[in-house]
Amino acid sequence: MAKIIGGIATTHVPAIGKAIAENKQNDPYWKPFFQGFDYVHGWLAREKPDVAVVFYNDHGLNFFLDKLPTFAVGAAAEYRNEDEGWGIPVSRAVPGDPALSWHLINALIADEFDVTICQEMLVDHAVTIPMALMWPGERWPVTIIPVSINTVQHPLPSLARCFKLGRSVGRALETYEQDLRVMIVGTGGLSHQLDGTRAGFINKEFDQLCLDKIARHPEALTRYSIHDFVAQAGAQGVEFLNWMAMRGALTGRVAEVHRNYHIPISNTAAATIVLENRGRRERMAA
Ligand code: DHB
Ligand code: FE
Repeated sequence: MAKIIGGIATTHVPAIGKAIAENKQNDPYWKPFFQGFDYVHGWLAREKPDVAVVFYNDHGLNFFLDKLPTFAVGAAAEYRNEDEGWGIPVSRAVPGDPALSWHLINALIADEFDVTICQEMLVDHAVTIPMALMWPGERWPVTIIPVSINTVQHPLPSLARCFKLGRSVGRALETYEQDLRVMIVGTGGLSHQLDGTRAGFINKEFDQLCLDKIARHPEALTRYSIHDFVAQAGAQGVEFLNWMAMRGALTGRVAEVHRNYHIPISNTAAATIVLENRGRRERMAA
């Protein structure tokens, strides 16, 4: 059976791609951020996931404002990136797992999440930057199932809805018959706003609250409406919806094993966490 080993959530700021391309990981500006990935690299080397389910938001590469599904699941054999205009190299393609995608899609729709099915899907910096951070320089050793959540065109799904979407994905993964080690990824955030009079807005206190709650009390965060969340975290800070879905997919007792928070990277409060799924049996024994 498939096993959910844990989750990683991280910022996806495009400028990180430029820093990687220019080998700036040890520059004073970048070091406190990239250092936060030393632990992640060790964890991935130990845990050896086969598949990553990646909750992320598309920023106009695959979907634009004219047609924007609330939830969309990739069912392709491969996901290509294209030049988004950020001045970063176009990423290599990421391999998919269509059989697992269809399993998830069937289960989600049976569970009343009427997702958009994408047999072709481009992935943007919200997928490729986290991949490059998790596996620097190497061939990427996992297949991915991209799940995009609309964090761009209002009305957005609620935090509670995204948490439940994650729950549904987690339940579906646990019934998949292949022996796969599955990790869950949530990208984006934390607080940031790129436009309008509050451009550059960061809210460290609120970010700390989100980081404190996400492992042990994620339900507490569902009391924020989207409007409240944007007020607290900025117009793009609402990318935290991807973190909520990631957390929802972790079905066992969850332990936070790593956290890094650094302000700012570009316009964003940059955060990285690793959550371990301690599993059903251990939860029952605890
Ligand atoms: C930045 C952050 C993002 O989440 C994004 O998608 C693009 C840019 C930034 O801080 O520059
Ligand atoms: Fe973004």
